Amino acid sequence: MKDVQHGILMPVPRLARYLLFSHVSSAKPHSALRSLCDVADGENTVVGIGLSLVLALGRHIEGLRVFPGQVGAGIEVPSTVSSLWCWLRGDDRGELMHRARLVERTLSPAFRLQKMVDAFQYGASLDLTGYEDGTENPKGEKAYEVAVARGQGEGLDGGSFVAVQQWVHDLDYFESMPAAEQDYTIGRRKRGNEEIEEAPPSAHVKRTAQESFEPNAFILRRSMPWADETGAGLVFVAFGKSFDAFEALLRRMVGVEDGISDALFKITHPVSGSYFWCPPVRNGKLDLRALGV
Ligand code: HEM
Repeated sequence: MKDVQHGILMPVPRLARYLLFSHVSSAKPHSALRSLCDVADGENTVVGIGLSLVLALGRHIEGLRVFPGQVGAGIEVPSTVSSLWCWLRGDDRGELMHRARLVERTLSPAFRLQKMVDAFQYGASLDLTGYEDGTENPKGEKAYEVAVARGQGEGLDGGSFVAVQQWVHDLDYFESMPAAEQDYTIGRRKRGNEEIEEAPPSAHVKRTAQESFEPNAFILRRSMPWADETGAGLVFVAFGKSFDAFEALLRRMVGVEDGISDALFKITHPVSGSYFWCPPVRNGKLDLRALGV
C-alpha cells in the first residue's frame, strides 16, 4: 500500500481545506508541479490532477475524463472544471492556513487559486443532517482494492480517481420534515443508524446500495461537512480505481434507469462536480512520471 497517496486510505481528519486551481495557459506547469512534490506528501496533502492539465502536458491518463453533468426531473448535477485539486488534511486550522499559503505560493504563477473550501468533522463522522456518513465504506484491503488502480503499469499503479462535488443543504427544509420522513430520505434511522428495510426505493441507501449493482459499485467515500457565510453542506469525495462505480451510482441517484430520483435531492443539491486523477507515490514522493514531470 506504499504506492498510494496515504491520505486517501486514512480516516477522515478533524479539519480540512480544499484548494482548486486553474492553470494559467501561457505558463509551463512543469516546474510548479515538481516543486509541489516537495510540499505535498500524499498523506497530509492529497493531490489530484484534472484532465485539462494532463492535456496541457501533452499526456494521456487512461480513464481520466470530464465529470458527466446530469439532468433529471427538477434535478441538476453540474460539471465544473479545475486543473488541480489539493485536499489539505489536519487538525489545526492555523497550520492548515499556513500550508494552504505554501501550496498556493509553490504553484504560482503557473496556477491560480480558483476556490477554497474549509471542511470539518461533525461529531463521529456525521453529515450536517445528523446521519452517520461512511458506514458502508469498504475497509482495510478492500478499501485499497476499491480505490487504487492496479495492473496499469509503472507510474499509474497506485493511482486513484476521485470525484469531488460540493453539495449545499437546505437545512431549514430538512428540519421541517417529520423525523420518519427524514429517516426515509436517507433509508437509515438517525438514532442508532439502523438500515430501514421498508424504506421507499427513493431512499438514498436504497438508490446507492453498492452490492445491488452489476458489477458491484463500491467506492471509497471521504466526504466532509462544510459551512460558511454562504451556506452549509457536504464536500462529497469518492475515490475509485476508475470512475465507473461512481457514475453508476450517480445515474441511479438521478433516476436515469427507472425515473426514480434519490430523495436526497429534496434536501440538498450539488453546485460543483469535478474529476481528478490522484498520482501514485514512489519513494515517499508523488510520482508524476505518467505526466512527464
Ligand atoms: C450531500 C450528499 C450526500 C449525503 C448527505 C450522503 C449521505 C449518506 C449517508 C448518511 C449514507 C448512509 C451511511 C453510509 O453508508 O455511509 C450514505 C450512503 C451511501 N452514499 Fe451517500 N450521501 C451523499 C451523496 C452521495 C453521492 C453523490 C453518492 C454517489 C454517487 C453517494 C453514495 C453513497 C453510497 C455508495 C452509500 C453506501 C450505500 C450502501 O452500500 O449501503 N452518496 N450517504
